Amino acid sequence: MNRISTKLTSYFFISVLIMETTLMLYLHQNIIHSRIDEEFSRLIATGSNHRDVLTEYYSDTTMKHIVLMETDGEREVLITDPQGDIIESSVENINELTKYVPRIEKTLKDEIVVSDWKDSPYIISIHPYKVNAQQAGYVIMFQSTKAVEQLVAKLNMHFGMAGITSVVVIFLIYAILSKFLTRPLIRMKEATEKLSKGDFDVSLPFIGKDELGELSGSIQKLADDLERLKAERNEFLASIAHELSTPLTYLIGYSKVAMRQGLNEQERTHYLEIIIEESNRMKELVKNLLDLAKLDENTYTVTKENYSARPFLENIFQLVKPSFNLKNIRLDFTYDSELQIYADSLRLEQVILNLLDNALKYSNEHSTVTLEAFKKEETTVIKITDEGIGISKEDIELIFEKLYRVEKSRSRAYGGSGIGLAVVKELIDAHGGSIEVLSDVGKGSTFIVKI
Ligand SMILES: Nc1ncnc2c1ncn2[C@@H]1O[C@H](COP(=O)(O)OP(=O)(O)OP(=O)(O)O)[C@@H](O)[C@H]1O
Ligand SMILES: [Mg+2]
Repeated sequence: MNRISTKLTSYFFISVLIMETTLMLYLHQNIIHSRIDEEFSRLIATGSNHRDVLTEYYSDTTMKHIVLMETDGEREVLITDPQGDIIESSVENINELTKYVPRIEKTLKDEIVVSDWKDSPYIISIHPYKVNAQQAGYVIMFQSTKAVEQLVAKLNMHFGMAGITSVVVIFLIYAILSKFLTRPLIRMKEATEKLSKGDFDVSLPFIGKDELGELSGSIQKLADDLERLKAERNEFLASIAHELSTPLTYLIGYSKVAMRQGLNEQERTHYLEIIIEESNRMKELVKNLLDLAKLDENTYTVTKENYSARPFLENIFQLVKPSFNLKNIRLDFTYDSELQIYADSLRLEQVILNLLDNALKYSNEHSTVTLEAFKKEETTVIKITDEGIGISKEDIELIFEKLYRVEKSRSRAYGGSGIGLAVVKELIDAHGGSIEVLSDVGKGSTFIVKI
């Protein structure tokens, strides 16, 4: 798998490796070179010192003295005569040293003749001396390269350890990256895959407040929302099925009764009327459902315009008055005749009709329902108050849900299906307005719409 932590670590590893190798090589070479240079200059300095002493106090004793100084330690010395024969040596077996000395061209200055410390066991310098024609030759100095080799071995070991340490550090970084970066990402990937398969039961742990944490939180919220929507949809479908099957049962029942032989005309008409009433109720329900579906899909638009409240409210009053009269409920409309409303008139009418319909449905005879309309700052406020059965606190939170009715059996008696307020809420939301409910059980309710 192309893990992001692997990728990051590889880039990191390669960069560190290149940097480290360049640096180490540079350091390695520099340390060795400066050490070798040091050895060279020390050898030349000692050699020329011996030569100077020899030139000044040329004698066998001086030579022995010089050789004696170099018997112990890392250095050796040879002294030659004008013919090139060895006359003094710091080692017994002269061959051990002479085999490393290259052919010496005639030279008048001190110089390093063997500098290859890697392949030769000695670096060698020569120092010509001349007292007179017979007393002349070379002081040849040998410096063992063992010390340099040891130094190189030590350096290699240290650098190797540094290399291993950096590999370990990189692995640690990989582990940390993998824990803090890859694992949450993999979890999120798995979660989204689950979501796309329709399984919304996802739980992502809290991983902090950074970008990854926010992403994880958003996915969790999406999953929770989807889960809730799924539950709501199922509940909604079950309610619709129930809602439709109840009137259908009535329809079938009453149709059978109406078909019975021996019924008189009046009885048959009575049953047929019930059938028509139930069919109308069903038709209304289906219409409301369709409305709601359209609202949910946002396939309609709200066109706000300024219009006078008077004709608008007067029209509504005339429309609903007969139903209120029929139930002996008083209906009062109070508003300023100059009042202007800024809204989609058709939609607002739908809202008010629904609220008045509820007020009528859930009020008893001889009570009063009032509608007040006024402007508060820039918003239009419409207040519908009834003296009806009221709504309990717990139910107020739920009445705007689709198909929610406070008391299922009672509502059947009132003839509601629980869609009206859901439609009202959607319409008000689309206007960018709000709706608020104040209610006391047994005393009445007030619905306050602000648009
Ligand atoms: N003014 C009110 N007084 C008391 N209860 C109310 C009032 N308005 C609404 N309710 C309660 O809220 C529930 C939801 O109201 P909603 O208007 O959504 O549905 P409905 O009136 O039952 O049916 P529909 O409006 O779809 O015909 C009602 O069933 C009723 O229990
Ligand atoms: Mg209603």
